[in-house]
Amino acid sequence: MKKYIDDFKVIKNERLNYEYVILTLQHPGKLPAMMPGQFVEVRVDNGPNTFLRRPISIHDIDEANNTMKLLVQEIGEGTKLMGQLKEGDNCNLVYPLGNSFSLPEKPRVLLVGGGCGIAPLLFMGRHLKANGIEPQFLLGARTEEGLIALEAFRELGQVHTTTEDGSVGTKGYVIHHPVMRTHEPEIDMIYTCGPEAMMKVVAKYARNHNIKCEVSLENHMACGFGACLCCVADTIDGHKCTCTDGPVFDSTYLKW
Ligand SMILES: Cc1cc2nc3c(=O)[nH]c(=O)nc-3n(C[C@H](O)[C@H](O)[C@H](O)COP(=O)(O)OP(=O)(O)OC[C@H]3O[C@@H](n4cnc5c(N)ncnc54)[C@H](O)[C@@H]3O)c2cc1C
Ligand code: FES
Repeated sequence: MKKYIDDFKVIKNERLNYEYVILTLQHPGKLPAMMPGQFVEVRVDNGPNTFLRRPISIHDIDEANNTMKLLVQEIGEGTKLMGQLKEGDNCNLVYPLGNSFSLPEKPRVLLVGGGCGIAPLLFMGRHLKANGIEPQFLLGARTEEGLIALEAFRELGQVHTTTEDGSVGTKGYVIHHPVMRTHEPEIDMIYTCGPEAMMKVVAKYARNHNIKCEVSLENHMACGFGACLCCVADTIDGHKCTCTDGPVFDSTYLKW
């Protein structure tokens, strides 16, 4: 798939809570085709330590209006500077990078996300719906405040939630939710993105129940296009670059 480098215009910066924003970015012309699971490398301007671009998943696409949404969790200098972008600012992206989620062979689909890992699942949910599949989402967070963008997910399918403190949804981790506690799961395919520990547990559940599972890794990255080898994942075929061979992998392909 052809790669681009473009200045997008920030047309909205919506603050969801103390650490998450959603940036809506306007493409200068016609937005090229992109697939769910792919990511962009964001150039972070005006940061003394941010000469490397930062990888961020494509959260949503509005083809009619040529806009892209990024869900950003502010954890360090780069993402904090992204969170300060204002309407009218430029945001330079290299995109679309990496591979993408596949479409399921059977229709009963669960998308499991935690933290900023929920970002690619919204775009995937929209893609599934456009292909006649009504997805279910299982989203986990530490507290109610960490459960973000729920309305957007609810427009696409049923949303289940867990919180570690039990403030909303099922108390515990995603694996404690009833949809993942049954011995005869009513799902044929799982897509997951979030903290590695969460994805490993979800992948184990999928393996034990013979459910196909795709995971989207968020390994540390630098170049984003296969040159620096800093993002490798250990697979049954040896080391693979998360930025070019991934970020999406069949969970059984990883040496987890
Ligand atoms: C394919 C991919 C997709 C991603 N999608 C999103 C997204 O949609 N939204 C989002 O908010 N973030 C996403 N991330 C994570 C994001 O890239 C990092 O949080 C960001 O690069 C950190 O930059 P920083 O300058 O803010 O923090 P830094 O100052 O670089 O780091 C701050 C702290 O975060 C840790 N850190 C840095 N990168 C990562 C990482 N990849 N995973 C875990 N810890 C990290 C560092 O070790 C350090 O402790 C994605 C990462 C990848 C690889
Ligand atoms: S980030 Fe450089 S090879 Fe993947």
